[in-house]
Amino acid sequence: MAVPPSLPGSFPAIRLRRPRMQAWSRELVAEHVLSPANLIWPVFIQDGEKLETPVAAMPGVSRVSVDVLVEKAKQAAALGIKAIALFPKVDEKLKSPLADEALFPDNLVCRAIRALKEQVPELGVIADVALDPYTDHGHDGIVEHGHVANDKTVAVLCKQAVVLAKAGCDIVAPSDMMDGRIGAIRAALDGAEHGNTQILAYSAKYASSFYGPFREAVDSAKFLGAADKRSYQMDTANGDEAMREIAMDIAEGADFVMVKPGISYLDIVYRAASGFQVPVFAYQVSGEYAMIKAAGMQGWINAEAAMMESLLSFRRAGARAIFTYAALEVAALLKR
Ligand code: PBG
Repeated sequence: MAVPPSLPGSFPAIRLRRPRMQAWSRELVAEHVLSPANLIWPVFIQDGEKLETPVAAMPGVSRVSVDVLVEKAKQAAALGIKAIALFPKVDEKLKSPLADEALFPDNLVCRAIRALKEQVPELGVIADVALDPYTDHGHDGIVEHGHVANDKTVAVLCKQAVVLAKAGCDIVAPSDMMDGRIGAIRAALDGAEHGNTQILAYSAKYASSFYGPFREAVDSAKFLGAADKRSYQMDTANGDEAMREIAMDIAEGADFVMVKPGISYLDIVYRAASGFQVPVFAYQVSGEYAMIKAAGMQGWINAEAAMMESLLSFRRAGARAIFTYAALEVAALLKR
């Protein structure tokens, strides 16, 4: 990823268009490729049976019950996708100030993990460590005196991570942005004999407007209300700070680090991938997906081509794997 030295030579001896003239030649010199093995599929899940509820702000995306999830996961695995990430819509009755449901070993996410590991064992399963699906105020942590309390939240996150690992989760993914949570979760997993459970740290997660459709999909927007997550998610203005977050998470035991959102933060992906010897993942978030789909539906862009272009840009920036809601359709296109 180093900046290449400037190459000698000048026009007309050098004509950079020459290798661009034919498709075979373009492919021969392509510096980056997109493969289904680079894709991680985030899926919204809900209680019930045989349910597939379309998410209005995300054309082509549905929230599914666990039985449907298993069938879709089989398709994903057959297309060469390596991992799936679960995001639950938690029933309003089950939400509480202290997120108790997050620690219930038979909650929706744990049931989904068990079903997947039984029926599609070759597919990696990733689950978020964060309390926002479970709190009645919509924050990712425990609120005390009007603030999200860091250390109390971390204590609960450790328990949540162990509950997920016990259900069979392969990768726990703390997306809460509390300080010190990676080290604490690593220690909790190791102490519970889950030393092989991997940690994907959402190290550089920004307080972004591009999460809107996600909050509709899991129905968390109305609980968060007018509040925002700026006291824990990162400020868009900052890049160096992301490098500090990443360095700390690696030191605390992260196996992989995440940059999120993706397309407006490719400079962060690039800096992370160039600066650290750790796999960097990036998240093409709900708002990015929605924008491409919406413009496509208007006939303003070719959504299929734009999706491919966006995902290949992530790879060029240095992302090893990419979370995308389009994983299934993209993997099918790549297979053709
Ligand atoms: C919650 C979480 C969010 C997303 C993933 N995990 C939303 C948020 O932080 O409010 C957003 C993903 C997306 O927009 O696709 N911890």
